[in-house]
Amino acid sequence: MKKTTNEIRQKFLEFFQEKGHTILPSSSLIPKDDSTLLFTNAGMNQFKNFFLNPKKKKYSRVTTAQRCLRTGGKHNDLENVGYTERHHTFFEMLGNFSFNDYFKKEAITYAWELLTSAKWFNINQNKLWISVYENDEETYKIWIDIIKISPQHIIKIGDKNNSKYNSENFWQMGDTGPCGPCTEIFYNYDIKNHHDFSDFLKNKNEYFIEIWNIVFIEYNRISSKSIIPLEYKSIDTGMGLERISSVLQDVNSNYKTDVFQKLIQNIASFSKTKNLNNISLKIISDHIRSCIFLIYENVIPSNEHRGYILRRIIRRMLRHAYKIGIKKNFFHKIVPYFIENISENFNFIKEKEKQIKETLKTEEIQFSETLEKGLKILNIEIKKISNQKISGKTIFYLYDTFGFPVDLTLDVCREKGIKVNLDGYYLEREKQKKHSKIGSKFYTNYNQIININDHCTFEGYKKNTIKALIKQIYINEKLTSSILEGESGIIFLDKTCFYPESGGQVGDIGKLYYKKSHFIVKDTKKYGNTIGHIGTLIKGKFKINDFLYTKIDTLYRKNIQINHSATHLLHSALRKILGNIVTQKGSLVTHTRLRFDFSYPKNISFYDIQKIEQVVNAEIYKNNLIKVQYCSLEEAKKKKAIALFESKYNSIVRVISIKNFSIELCGGTHTKRTGDIGLFKITDQSSISSGIKRIEAITNSQSINLLHIQENKLKDISTLLKANSVNFKNKIEKLITKVKDLEIQVNILQKKENIHQIKKITEKIEDIKGVKLLINIFQKYDYKSLKLIIDQLKKDFKSIIIIFINKNNNHFNIIAGVTKNLTNFLTALEIIKIFTQLSNGKGGGKDEIAEGSSVNTMNLSKILKIIKSWINSKLEN
Ligand code: ALA
Repeated sequence: MKKTTNEIRQKFLEFFQEKGHTILPSSSLIPKDDSTLLFTNAGMNQFKNFFLNPKKKKYSRVTTAQRCLRTGGKHNDLENVGYTERHHTFFEMLGNFSFNDYFKKEAITYAWELLTSAKWFNINQNKLWISVYENDEETYKIWIDIIKISPQHIIKIGDKNNSKYNSENFWQMGDTGPCGPCTEIFYNYDIKNHHDFSDFLKNKNEYFIEIWNIVFIEYNRISSKSIIPLEYKSIDTGMGLERISSVLQDVNSNYKTDVFQKLIQNIASFSKTKNLNNISLKIISDHIRSCIFLIYENVIPSNEHRGYILRRIIRRMLRHAYKIGIKKNFFHKIVPYFIENISENFNFIKEKEKQIKETLKTEEIQFSETLEKGLKILNIEIKKISNQKISGKTIFYLYDTFGFPVDLTLDVCREKGIKVNLDGYYLEREKQKKHSKIGSKFYTNYNQIININDHCTFEGYKKNTIKALIKQIYINEKLTSSILEGESGIIFLDKTCFYPESGGQVGDIGKLYYKKSHFIVKDTKKYGNTIGHIGTLIKGKFKINDFLYTKIDTLYRKNIQINHSATHLLHSALRKILGNIVTQKGSLVTHTRLRFDFSYPKNISFYDIQKIEQVVNAEIYKNNLIKVQYCSLEEAKKKKAIALFESKYNSIVRVISIKNFSIELCGGTHTKRTGDIGLFKITDQSSISSGIKRIEAITNSQSINLLHIQENKLKDISTLLKANSVNFKNKIEKLITKVKDLEIQVNILQKKENIHQIKKITEKIEDIKGVKLLINIFQKYDYKSLKLIIDQLKKDFKSIIIIFINKNNNHFNIIAGVTKNLTNFLTALEIIKIFTQLSNGKGGGKDEIAEGSSVNTMNLSKILKIIKSWINSKLEN
């Protein structure tokens, strides 16, 4: 009996448990406290600190089955998926780890025993081949002398391009981190076993499949140029579960194992393909696993960071679904099937089924149109090119105008054997970036050119005014010794109570003064570790080393504080009403309003908005104290304080808490009690990019002002309607019904009028060589009816040219109609073109009907004459 993948996973863990290893659970796909990695890419990630720091290690030997994602950074398999039988974006990595415990000999012996002994995996030794790092004689000897592997079955692999440690047999976690030489075990799928291993290395044939990598962790890479030895040596191994399953289940593809077969059949049943080897089926079955596990970890599709990778995977999957004829509501059906049949090991996924389905569905709906349009345009471009190469401009155009992902363009071109000019694409992208930066050049220049290595203490949490010393003055981006009356510049002090723009809160305004000298501060910004007061000296003079007083505009600051505290309440209310999936993506806090951007995949209903307002205002009425505390990052995490996941924090952090309702890490300034906020009102809700929502709101007197404006509007409307607040709605409803009735009556009358007009104008029809011509000028006639009349006349007279002019107060419209049988001689569009040229007007349309307009009413009769003689000449020819 062949083992199932579940059994294989279990056997692996049991084997190493017998060898004294502790079985630990897989860690999350999102690496914890490690900003060097976007996703967990290997079993060793969760033990990074055990390898690096002897004091941190909690175990000596452990074993895991780790969920991994390889879609970016050093280990990226995205592009290979579907095109090989073994690459995946999401997969499980089986591993055993030793931290300063056993080393090379034991690691190799264990691996060999598990793979070949009859009690365990029982693989024929002849099918296994080995690679070692070229300089690693010790490992080579272990294989030859202890394991007794035949020298024909082992190969040494050195560095590429003469660059040290740049080798298939030197494993590195990422750009930095633990690393070391490795030895890899390959399985030979060639039944006749006659393939030469060295040939594989040259030609990368599909027979030899790497199944296990044993890494001897001895170094720490600290930068691209520098690598240092570690205090002790460790073992890190990784075996792809799906690969070993394909070996043990005796199939030659991971996609034919029990992990994928049923899933592929299920996906195929929605598609037009019966061929279970179809590349698109493989890609979808791989990608859907990544999507499901990523959304489980609360990643949502967006244009940045992890969300962007998820978006790429979903979009790539959708294109392949489209390719095999699955067009609508695809995820809806696949996800439940996947989840119902998920291995027990992943039962936890079930709790988020709804979230997974909805996230995928939203993205699917949003992207379908783009996909269809983008593919159409790309296919047209491909037909047009003569050199079998798509230009950078086209790739950029598709991306920039239609949001059609570059990946997909590459994917489509790869399938069709068409080259792409990626460099050209990057060039176009840079051009656009430069272009859009011109507008903000002023501040960018300020930040870039003023490169100050100084420090300024912020004392503005408690004080509104303090005495400070001028350390530097910049005018026009140049350091100067003084600033004179009328000059604008930036003043840097040793301390200040001006809050510099950061964390979404805008910079303070106010004044710097001493005796008769006054500098008006119109903005405050951070420059490295110091703070710049940007403004103009309106009186006197300041020079370096002068003392002065700093005084912020307290009312301005007070309103900012109120809005900042309200932002915290809003953030918590959003998480309470919409769920913890809400994560902050940006914010702006000014003295008049607040804006909060957050990730949330669905639409937010009007009623949810009202609920959010209610929850925030209820917190305001409680008038709770807004507490500021300093504590260690660890303590803050224990308190479940909300932090911006991607931000770097110091070891001591500032925590703002409002009872149990809101706890956030924040450096901003806040009001004392929630009651200060007064009244919180949401003014706008929008979607700023896919999956990212924006809420704008106001507080305090701004809210009251808004209510007054709205009240005044209602009052004006009531006066117009002669209504009061009670019968207001009723009156509008009645009015709407009345308007509708009137429209019906007008329509009836208009139709009668049209019949009358047709009778009247048919008298004016002329005959030119058997073709009818009708030119008529109307005064302010119903424009829609003119088109109807043309349609009617075309039916009544089989060969007719109609030109209608409709005169309005200060302009006129023209509509030309030509029956189809005449369009070989002349077209309506040609008539309109002559008209627009002569009258300086504009217009357009088709062969049988076209329209135009002009404000030049002077020469109308002349123009019509010219058109008429042109028609004559056309018909005569
Ligand atoms: N960390 C090693 C790998 O991922 C085992 O290949």
